[in-house]
Amino acid sequence: MSNADELLRIEGIRKTFPGVVALDGVDFDLRRGEVHVLLGENGAGKSTLIKMLSGAHRPDAGRILAGGEEVRIHGAQDAERLGIATIYQEFNLVPDLTVAENIFLGRQPRRFGMIDRKRMDADAAALLERVGVNVSPRARVRELGIARLQMVEIAKALSLDARVLIMDEPTAVLTSEEVEKLFVIVRRLREDGVGIVFITHHLEEIAALGDRVTVIRDGKSVGQVPASTSEDELVRLMVGRSIEQQYPRERADRGAALLSVEGLTRDGVFHDVGFEVHAGEVVGIAGLVGAGRTEVVRAVFGADPYDRGTVRVEGAKLPRHDVNAAMAAGIGLVPEDRKGQGLVLGQSVEENLGLVTMRAATRGGLVDLGGQREAAARIAGQLGVRMAGLHQQVRTLSGGNQQKVVIGKWLLADTRVLILDEPTRGIDVGAKVEIYQLINELTAAGAAVLMISSDLPEVLGMSDRVLVMAQGRIAGELSADRATQDAVMSLAVSTPSTETEQEAPRGR
Ligand SMILES: Nc1ncnc2c1ncn2[C@@H]1O[C@H](COP(=O)(O)OP(=O)(O)OP(=O)(O)O)[C@@H](O)[C@H]1O
Ligand SMILES: [Mg+2]
Repeated sequence: MSNADELLRIEGIRKTFPGVVALDGVDFDLRRGEVHVLLGENGAGKSTLIKMLSGAHRPDAGRILAGGEEVRIHGAQDAERLGIATIYQEFNLVPDLTVAENIFLGRQPRRFGMIDRKRMDADAAALLERVGVNVSPRARVRELGIARLQMVEIAKALSLDARVLIMDEPTAVLTSEEVEKLFVIVRRLREDGVGIVFITHHLEEIAALGDRVTVIRDGKSVGQVPASTSEDELVRLMVGRSIEQQYPRERADRGAALLSVEGLTRDGVFHDVGFEVHAGEVVGIAGLVGAGRTEVVRAVFGADPYDRGTVRVEGAKLPRHDVNAAMAAGIGLVPEDRKGQGLVLGQSVEENLGLVTMRAATRGGLVDLGGQREAAARIAGQLGVRMAGLHQQVRTLSGGNQQKVVIGKWLLADTRVLILDEPTRGIDVGAKVEIYQLINELTAAGAAVLMISSDLPEVLGMSDRVLVMAQGRIAGELSADRATQDAVMSLAVSTPSTETEQEAPRGR
């Protein structure tokens, strides 16, 4: 390799936050035309490291070199000047602006001093086509689902013509089909000589896309290996031990139906959805993004209304669109969008963990603060939440650790029916197993678990039964022994029968 191929070099970077040493001497380098994967557990320091390159944070010590010269990256403009574009783990788009406005924010094409909307929309359309996403440049970002938001972020980075593209868990929110599309784009960029820093918790993506891997553990770079390294070895480097069983589902005794959903319909969104989840059972819901899975569980939980149908918990009918009634009946929902719906970012880990129990407790007129702290400490320990202490603001936890807090919150509440929407998105391989163990404990204690996941091996590995949704309907149900990737996928892309439509009242 000639020196001319080196785009970036990081030497001995350190960064501390109050109470936390986030980076404790990290070395890293990036070449032209490579995908360099950053691998590490939740809280290892991956996002902090890339924030040094995007200008969001400044290092306390250490050097950054670009093309062999030491540089200071003190803000987004420095990064842009050096040709570094970053797609963050938590989205960075402005909800009320259009897709095109977001892509060209601060750089809108102008004509006679005015923003040239026509050109901006056309340029955005071309970029979106390059990404392969079917979204209008004029759509408001607030109207887009999480997968499309990601694609818009990528289009935005492409528009910057970056020499270095940093992607922090871009695939966490994508389905396998969308991941394939993303890989095509990334490979094309690599061929063009772009250097790509790629963070992922999906180990199988490393061999598929990567060239080199730098492993970070506890803020230190502990090794640099080729992307062809075996998954077992990668796990060992990353967590310091091997993982015996990735999906340790332990079947529990199946009891009575705890959750019964019948004929649930929200016009134009989902139709005639019916299923039961029994005590002791884990029921998975598979399907493509946009199949209506999140919409159904939000309606079941009372977060959104529905037009027809019933939701029963242990036989008792729940009023529609009433979260408090659902919670009082023992339903809990871990939402897919943790930042928007799951957490109060400005509050501490302890306060967030107590959010649900607190509500229950104060309703009874009694708050057992000591007991609550003890319970919070226990669950945080079990999930391995990496934090300075229970007092740490959730905002400053790493992405995966925020997700652990959302899950922990509902595990602490006394839920009989726990609904998990993409529970392990952004969770490292070791912590995933801890979450699966907790799911086992819940079902062993007689709870019912309904789990949406786009991670097929996870759905197949942890569910006792799999429901597959397509186009707002249940396209089929598979028992654990019949649920294979192929069986699920062929249902997920099917067009479910629409006969029942005739029964729907007219005039809507
Ligand atoms: N602004 C901040 N204030 C305090 N601590 C912080 C701040 N930002 C990050 N940290 C801490 O630094 C450590 C590293 O976090 P970072 O976000 O880099 O982890 P990560 O490797 O990206 O993890 P994940 O896989 O969960 O995204 C964590 O302990 C985190 O809580
Ligand atoms: Mg991160």
